[in-house]
Amino acid sequence: MQHLINIMDLTTAEIDELIEVAKDILANPEKYQDACRHKILATLFFEPSTRTRLSFESAMLSLGGNVLGFSDSSSSSSAKGESLADTITMVSGYSDIIAMRHPKEGSPIVASEHTAVPIINAGDGGHYHPTQTLTDLLTIKTELGHFDGLTVGLCGDLKYGRTVHSLISAMSRYENVRFVLISPQELKLPSFVKQTYIKDAGLPYIQSTSLEDVIGDLDILYMTRIQRERFPDEEDYLRLKDTYILDEEKMKSAKRDMIVLHPLPRVNEISTGVDSDPRALYFKQAYNGKFIRMALIMKLLGIKI
Ligand code: CP
Repeated sequence: MQHLINIMDLTTAEIDELIEVAKDILANPEKYQDACRHKILATLFFEPSTRTRLSFESAMLSLGGNVLGFSDSSSSSSAKGESLADTITMVSGYSDIIAMRHPKEGSPIVASEHTAVPIINAGDGGHYHPTQTLTDLLTIKTELGHFDGLTVGLCGDLKYGRTVHSLISAMSRYENVRFVLISPQELKLPSFVKQTYIKDAGLPYIQSTSLEDVIGDLDILYMTRIQRERFPDEEDYLRLKDTYILDEEKMKSAKRDMIVLHPLPRVNEISTGVDSDPRALYFKQAYNGKFIRMALIMKLLGIKI
């Protein structure tokens, strides 16, 4: 049984295959409409979500399957003190596959030890978010055609940003990738990501506190939200929240073919004036999420069309 806890659980060949299946689903959705008939996806979200939960649910419904779960853990028995292990033991008896989001880093590993069905990590605290990365990779491949040789700028909350950690680890496996890490001092990339996926991989990188200074070098600008919910101290959040705002003026310094990605939700970090720029792909990226998740559900259930 295969789980998806960390994007590195998938080989690059498996990621390529998922991307190809997702593209085929986008082109021929009717071919897949019964692929998961009589299968049940459980979505257990112990943290808020719009895109990830709803795209998973839409994905399973579009595959002809069914969905159950909760979007607010206060309505589940975890509010009565039930352990995650017991919850997963129960739910794996009611479903064929589980997508879970939890505020505690590592909780999908605990879940994987107490399940009879595949577990998908839909975000664990400030750790990883592998299905967002699949969404990002599908978008990059569709728009730029390749991963090798790209200069990837990641801007904002690199400390707590689980989407950043997963994307860096995934991109580190491609040739001649270069990273530009743009953050305030307080929100720098954690050493467990920098050491393992950049330094040990021998990849070039620079760190900058200024978006303006580096935007002209980038092939991809991956903007992220400063995440209020991760800050132990509200004062720090208030001081840092508007550090980076991508606007039309800054976009003038970017390459004509740079793409702007963002896992969303955004707060202030991308001005709405940028939305109409053809390089702004974050809504298309979110749309893509449904189709790569369809491909992933089929893969983990062992279903081929
Ligand atoms: N990108 C992402 O994880 O969005 P949600 O929090 O809305 O699921």
